[in-house]
Amino acid sequence: MTEKKENSIDKIVSLAKRRGFVFPSSEIYGGLAAIYDYGHYGTLLKNNIRDAWWKAMVQYRDDVVGLDSAIFMHPTTWKASGHIDSFDDPQVDCRKCKARMRADHLLEEFGINADKQTLEFLNTELNKLRTEKKLKCVSCGSTDLTDAKQFSLMVKSNLGSPTDELSEENVIYLRPETCGGIYLEYKNTVDSTRVKLPFGIAQVGKAFRNEIVARQFVFRTREFEQMEMQYFLHPDMMKEKYEMWKEVRWNWYLDYGMTADDIRWYKHEKLAHYASEAYDVEYNFKSLGGYKEVEGFHARGDWDLSQHSKFSGVDLSYFDEKINERFIPHIMETSAGLNRLFLMFLDKAYTEEQIGEDVRTVLKFDYRLAPVKIAIFPLMKNKPDLVAKARGIYDELKMKWQCEFDDNGNVGKRYRRQDEIGTPFCVTVDFDTIEKDNTVTVRDRDTMEQVRVKADELVKYFEIKLR
Ligand code: GAP
Repeated sequence: MTEKKENSIDKIVSLAKRRGFVFPSSEIYGGLAAIYDYGHYGTLLKNNIRDAWWKAMVQYRDDVVGLDSAIFMHPTTWKASGHIDSFDDPQVDCRKCKARMRADHLLEEFGINADKQTLEFLNTELNKLRTEKKLKCVSCGSTDLTDAKQFSLMVKSNLGSPTDELSEENVIYLRPETCGGIYLEYKNTVDSTRVKLPFGIAQVGKAFRNEIVARQFVFRTREFEQMEMQYFLHPDMMKEKYEMWKEVRWNWYLDYGMTADDIRWYKHEKLAHYASEAYDVEYNFKSLGGYKEVEGFHARGDWDLSQHSKFSGVDLSYFDEKINERFIPHIMETSAGLNRLFLMFLDKAYTEEQIGEDVRTVLKFDYRLAPVKIAIFPLMKNKPDLVAKARGIYDELKMKWQCEFDDNGNVGKRYRRQDEIGTPFCVTVDFDTIEKDNTVTVRDRDTMEQVRVKADELVKYFEIKLR
């Protein structure tokens, strides 16, 4: 058996659709760009990643509490945070084919670092390329491109308005990041949960951004989910806690199967004016051709609570009895994209193995993340005794783990299907089970080895294996 690691994004997209992980949204109407739906196995995998994050960030900690705030928030939230005035990306249009491009991405193709640069800088650099006749539309190759202009990423909606028109008075935004809700519920959390600084508030939820160029499957979409934790602290603690959270999160990635070569730190040199430090965890996506951001770590100073205090008129300062000092807490943020981690774990798990003439595709997920843990088969579907025994085992195991009963096609085909879903174990009930010794075959996803286990000891067996 030889292992091949050719996981191009096309193969992952195709497997994700074929096996019910991810579907393009609204497909019967021709689709909706950069929006995706998660099928049965995709939902299970995404929920398992979310739960793994939640356990590490909330359940196992004494200093972090949870929150689930609304997507719609008072519009002043985004004025205070600066999003309405400056949450933009620089856009260039092709006059010929109408394709939209990000100016910074166009420049990066020529090795020019244009991350978070001013419009003036971008247009100067674009004009240099234009003069050299190097600036071309990525879609049709035309040289007839507009100058860069700012394009707001905020997604507008309206609530309770008598008209469908979006006038400035009735506009409301879909949140572009989940942390806004955490800042607005900081005071209620302090008042209701008896937390003391330093402490964190964590939440998982949807965010929306009008991305100019949204591609690379679920890596960059217009509707996505974030898993964010805001840690409130005295500024003197920032350095220590920043390092602590970097370590906690790094170890989380290692715990779920990443190696030190799979992930790396990227330090941002250009920071937002309120930030003192910003790092990303980048994962080496084999399917996307290199390292890309999956999670951000930001030392945000007292910007967020100061701004919301100023715009709301509500005092958000904190009195620390231990040091007899009143101050606006500073914030250390960890912000991971759930859909990006979903793609990261798919990318890492995707494996092709040459077995004789055949290629076996298998998703080698960490068992805790695998959508289905155990599949149970009767050897033949037209033998009532085998089917009844397999059903009985399924009914018992499904009370403890996500299981699947399958009697379609031959056992070989069922193994292949479960391999492509990433199911760690398959249990087959055969004639020996019924006629001889009440044992079943348990087949291991990764080694494909099979062992006989007593049917009435399966729960104990899997309690050890799936620990
Ligand atoms: N509150 C800070 C914040 O939102 P960010 O770097 O803009 O920071 C954090 O986003 C994470 O959210 C990113 O590391 C990425 O994983 C995810 N993310 C951001 N935009 C996304 C998009 N359009 N599609 C999917 N995930 C996205």
